[in-house]
Amino acid sequence: MRKTLVAANWKMHGTKAFAEQLLVELNTGLESGECSSQVVICPPYPYLGVVAGKIGQAVMLGAQNLSEQPSGAYTGEVSAEMLLDFGARYAIVGHSERRSLYGENNELVAAKYAAAKGAGLIPILCVGESLEEREAGKTLEVVAEQIQAVVALGLPDTWQNAVIAYEPVWAIGTGKTATPEQAQEVHQFIRQQLGEAGSKTQILYGGSVKAANAAELFAKPDIDGALVGGASLKAEEFIQICCAAN
Ligand code: 13P
Repeated sequence: MRKTLVAANWKMHGTKAFAEQLLVELNTGLESGECSSQVVICPPYPYLGVVAGKIGQAVMLGAQNLSEQPSGAYTGEVSAEMLLDFGARYAIVGHSERRSLYGENNELVAAKYAAAKGAGLIPILCVGESLEEREAGKTLEVVAEQIQAVVALGLPDTWQNAVIAYEPVWAIGTGKTATPEQAQEVHQFIRQQLGEAGSKTQILYGGSVKAANAAELFAKPDIDGALVGGASLKAEEFIQICCAAN
């Protein structure tokens, strides 16, 4: 039985004071023990320490990105080991904003996935198609290529201790959520791509998830939770999403 996982991607939002306040509200709301989901918060790098220090029992720490390199002269980069030092357990890799704005291709994303896994972090591998790709009927092809780039590395137990997030690019920050049926179709396809490990791997949906649509998404058999952007910056809304799986 796969547990529901809800991960917050704060992206480049907020201040230290904002992070502290949001955490107080999240801790209070989530520690009542009424939400059955696992919860991960991925703040901007400089606030990892702040969040780690204030995180409650009910919440785990994640990063939004990491370097594919273990250490060295890589100005501006952050290694898996540094994230572990701050208590991070998860790291998002291959978010569509990293792919489209910072030129991360499938090979680099796969290398980041390997770096996270090799160090003992749980990668949250983001995959998803653009609007043009969906309209051209290429959704499954694009997602398969993104998955296969990781498979090609031949890592031991490739999909063990790993999470996949299906985030259609056209649904991110647009208010246009994929319908539960559209998401389910791709989630089921992804699970088939993972082979034997597929039945155990959590596959999250991301793209305009809100309190109002979380429950219908989570009700689908292959949707195991959500990766949440905008709505994760509002405590009450995010708590409702975390509890939507109950
Ligand atoms: P929104 O929830 O703001 O659409 O962002 C989704 C996302 O990119 C999470 O990683």
